[in-house]
Amino acid sequence: MGMNVAIDGPAGAGKSTIAKQVASKLQFIYVDTGAMYRTIALSLLRRGTDCENDSALKQALEEMDIRIGYEDGVQQMLLNGENVTGLIRTEEVSKMASISSAKPIVREKLMDLQRTLARENDVLMDGRDIGTRILPDAQVKIFLTASVEARAARRFKEMQEKGVPCTLEEIRADIEERDYRDMHRDTAPLIQAEDAVLVDTSDMTIDEVTDTIVRLVNEKR
Ligand code: DC
Repeated sequence: MGMNVAIDGPAGAGKSTIAKQVASKLQFIYVDTGAMYRTIALSLLRRGTDCENDSALKQALEEMDIRIGYEDGVQQMLLNGENVTGLIRTEEVSKMASISSAKPIVREKLMDLQRTLARENDVLMDGRDIGTRILPDAQVKIFLTASVEARAARRFKEMQEKGVPCTLEEIRADIEERDYRDMHRDTAPLIQAEDAVLVDTSDMTIDEVTDTIVRLVNEKR
C-alpha cells in the first residue's frame, strides 16, 4: 500500500486548492473524488436520467465508463473516453452531484476505483467519506472546514473573477443547502473521522494550511 492521506470536509473549505499544493510538495498523486461524482452527474444530466428511478439509474451507471488520467500532473476526468474535465464545474453539475452522490449505487461504482488508486500509489485523496469509509486505514486524516461565511465569501470572489453573475446571498444559501444534504444523507454522510485532525481554515492562509498538513504527513513518514 502507498502512503495515504485523506482530506474530507464541506464544499468550499479549500480542500482542492490545498490538497493540490500539499500533493505537489510531497510528490503524491492528488485524487479529487468530487470530480468523479461530478462526472457521473454530468452523464446523468446529459442522459436526462431521473435519479429517483432505481432501474434507470442502474442502467445509466452500467453504461458509463469513468476513468481518471493525469496531464502534466493535473487530474483529468474521462467519461466514455471523452475528457470532460472542463465541463463539470457548473452550478447545475454541482447540484446534480450532491443529489446523485447520496445514492448508494453511485457510491459503489466509485469505491473500487478510489481504493485501487490508493493501493497502488502514494495518494492524497479529498472528498467527504475518504477517512471514514474509503480509506479507513489512511496514515493521515484531515477534516478541513471553515465557517459558512468564509466559504461563501471565497466562492463569491471566485465567481466574480470568472465573471459569473451571482449574489453573495445566493452562494451562501447554496452552500448551506449542499452542507445539509451532504451531512444528512443516509449513505456515507459527511462526518469527521474519530482519528482525523480538525483544521479550521476560516482565518488561515492557503500556505498556512498547506504547511500544517505537510508537517502532519512528515511526522508519519
Ligand atoms: O467536492 P465537490 O464539490 O467537487 O463534490 C461534489 C459533490 O460530490 C458534493 O455534493 C459531495 C459529493 N461528494 C461525495 O459525496 N463524496 C466524495 N467523496 C466527494 C464528493
